[in-house]
Amino acid sequence: MSDDIKKGLLGIVVDETEISKVMPEINSLTYRGYAAQDLCARCDFEEVAYLILNKELPNKKQLKEFKKELSKEITLSKNLLSILKKIPKNSHPMDVARTAVSVMGLEDKETKDSSPKANLRKAIRILAKTPTALAAFYRLRKGKKIIAPKKNLTFSGNFFHMCFGKVPEKEIVKAFDVSLILYAEHSFNVSTFTARTITSSLSDIHGAITGAIASLKGPLHGGANEEVMHMMKKIKKPENALKWITKALKNKDVVMGFGHRVYKSGDSRVPTMREYFKRVAIIKKDKTFEKIYDIVEKVMIKEKNIYPNVDYPTGPTYHLMGFDTDFFTPIFVISRITGWSAHIMEQHAANKLIRPLASYKGSKHRKVIQLNQR
Ligand code: ACO
Repeated sequence: MSDDIKKGLLGIVVDETEISKVMPEINSLTYRGYAAQDLCARCDFEEVAYLILNKELPNKKQLKEFKKELSKEITLSKNLLSILKKIPKNSHPMDVARTAVSVMGLEDKETKDSSPKANLRKAIRILAKTPTALAAFYRLRKGKKIIAPKKNLTFSGNFFHMCFGKVPEKEIVKAFDVSLILYAEHSFNVSTFTARTITSSLSDIHGAITGAIASLKGPLHGGANEEVMHMMKKIKKPENALKWITKALKNKDVVMGFGHRVYKSGDSRVPTMREYFKRVAIIKKDKTFEKIYDIVEKVMIKEKNIYPNVDYPTGPTYHLMGFDTDFFTPIFVISRITGWSAHIMEQHAANKLIRPLASYKGSKHRKVIQLNQR
């Protein structure tokens, strides 16, 4: 293959963005200039969502108004609810998320309006409704009654309430909120680039987010948090971890939750999430997965010099919180809707159709032979 071909767009800068940047000098992923770990310590997810969508952190009045808007949009239409009830119970919830956002697009009165104000209103609607749709499916597939959202709960608290019928300890809700903040945005990753590519043909926000969800589902991207848990469940006990990882490396297996296209010496989101994983494990009085975590991480760094990415600590944290494993990536979705929407709006604001070239290596020119002579 020619050196001119940058497979996977490796190292290619395709556009400019104001939304986020990995700043090596402060070892941080930053959203609009603020370090993600600083945001985790001082803000709730709604404040960070506002920041990503509106470019600035909200003041008290703006935050109150934003929460009111989210709360106004949180319920689902009868039509969407009846569709969710008809979806096969064994469907992957990522496919349900994709379908739900697609249906929201069919129902939205502003689907055809891609002006900045209409796109922001639609982004807020998608952000508010997607957790409700996912929680409804969480209940439906277990044969349980759907739980309506409560207006007085936070974004994270409401998700627990709608899935489990109760809000857990404050520290657990905070750990969940932190995971949403860390997942909210990450520049030109594959799902965001998918959303921007769809937008570049001047298609609509619901279509772009539907495509982004499909992209996030893959195990090399968001689907990795689910795979991490499958791996940890297979390892089962800390005593098995060393043998398991040694064999995996001998077989040249890809170990999920490790490696990153951008970070080559550690994902700056991991220490924060690792700390909250520890706090949740203490509350749940279960250190099994923490012990497995540490053993696998140590071997990966020592033997391969490959560090964990944020999906490594989120997987077992969500497990300890009580979520089904296939709901881990959908949780990523409900947060990343903010980043995707901001990128969709940024793409619209300075659009250029995304259309790369390919080096052709197929057949030489041939003449078509009539069907009866082939
Ligand atoms: N386990 C074992 N080896 C790995 C891993 C891993 N998790 N990640 C990278 N490597 C090895 C590769 O085999 C390759 O080795 P080689 O040069 O001997 O062939 C080398 O490191 C470079 O890896 P690439 O896959 O070429 O790097 P790339 O930047 O294309 O891929 C990716 C990054 C896809 C994330 C990769 O590290 C991976 O597959 N990780 C596991 C999946 C995962 O955790 N994804 C989540 C990413 S974070 C996110 O989306 C939120």
